[in-house]
Amino acid sequence: MPQTIIAGIGHYVPDHVVTNNDLVKYMDTSDEWIQERTGIKERRYAGRTTETTSTMGVQAATIALENAGITKDDVDFIIFATLSPDYYFPGCGVLLQRAMKMNEIGALDIRNQCSGFVYALSVADQFIKTGMYKNILLVCSEKHSFGLDFSTRGRNISVIFGDGAAAVVLQPTTENNRGILSTHLHSDGSSAELLAMFNPGTHANHWLNEPLADFDEAPMGQMFMSHQMIDKAQNFPNMDGPAVFKKAIVKFPEVIEEALQKNNLTTADLQLLIPHQANLRIAQYVQQKLKLRDDQVFNNIEKYGNTTAASIPIALSEAWQLGKIKKGDLICMAAFGSGFTWGSALMRW
Ligand code: UT7
Repeated sequence: MPQTIIAGIGHYVPDHVVTNNDLVKYMDTSDEWIQERTGIKERRYAGRTTETTSTMGVQAATIALENAGITKDDVDFIIFATLSPDYYFPGCGVLLQRAMKMNEIGALDIRNQCSGFVYALSVADQFIKTGMYKNILLVCSEKHSFGLDFSTRGRNISVIFGDGAAAVVLQPTTENNRGILSTHLHSDGSSAELLAMFNPGTHANHWLNEPLADFDEAPMGQMFMSHQMIDKAQNFPNMDGPAVFKKAIVKFPEVIEEALQKNNLTTADLQLLIPHQANLRIAQYVQQKLKLRDDQVFNNIEKYGNTTAASIPIALSEAWQLGKIKKGDLICMAAFGSGFTWGSALMRW
């Protein structure tokens, strides 16, 4: 059976740099608070009308294809992961297919938030291993800046997120001991509401202890999204940060260990861990817990914030560009986020 390799990689971040001090204009926060709690110094915001999640994805995909030495016509399947799509539906996969004038190939959208890249990689791996596809274009992109609460009410969330995109081209190889060794996916929906955006949606308070809006009295046609919901900020993400943090620092080490054990390897074998860039303090905790050296972990959250599905591939692409990844290196990628969903992928570059 072939193994799946990353044959090409690329990332794109918008030019517009937004510092922590820039955010002070909108909300009661400070550079000191943000750096101390998250490690973030700045993030990028997409052009308000000039860039979308899909167009940033196209930029990253174009670089990844060039890096792989193939053209858009060689691609036989598209996977697009995001939580901030251009439209509620259809997904960004088809918008990318259209924008890049690609063949009428399949386009799958993945919505696993922070775990989007790891989930998508796992799906792609199965298609490659079975021989179904030979050139999968996997794109992750987020335009968070369009959907955050920039008032003080939303400051625990809005300061951590940033915009950006990354893409990889996945191909089969028969070279021994190369490519994806294993992927490990998990979920626990019991805490789904701890990090969620409730509307637009069809929930009608069904899962919630406290009603969010009055669905009984709402006129037909105003239940998916109404003025009341907007007034109550339910069109923005909602997060119990400390609860997410506590779960993340347990699940990250667990799922990394799971991948290593599955392959009879240990942390000493690992050249690079690329954790989802949720919060530098989480990554530091995981590093400490697994007793990894500084050179075994790559973080770039200080420059880009948390770019959700795009964070691992942006970091992977940047680490590769910086020469921190060589052929044969053992790389672990791990994510945890909304759902909760979490997962890891172990690969030999
Ligand atoms: O990638 C998706 C997965 N998400 C995560 O992994 C996020 C995990 N959680 C976190 O990273 C952290 O919980 C946060 C960075 C979101 C928040 O940090 P925290 O240390 O957990 O702060 P907190 O929410 O417990 O809030 C502490 C205080 C509160 O004030 P009081 O009640 O103590 O007076 C907040 O209102 O900090 C306040 N606060 C802020 N102050 C200044 C919350 N956000 C801000 C802010 N600026 N941006």
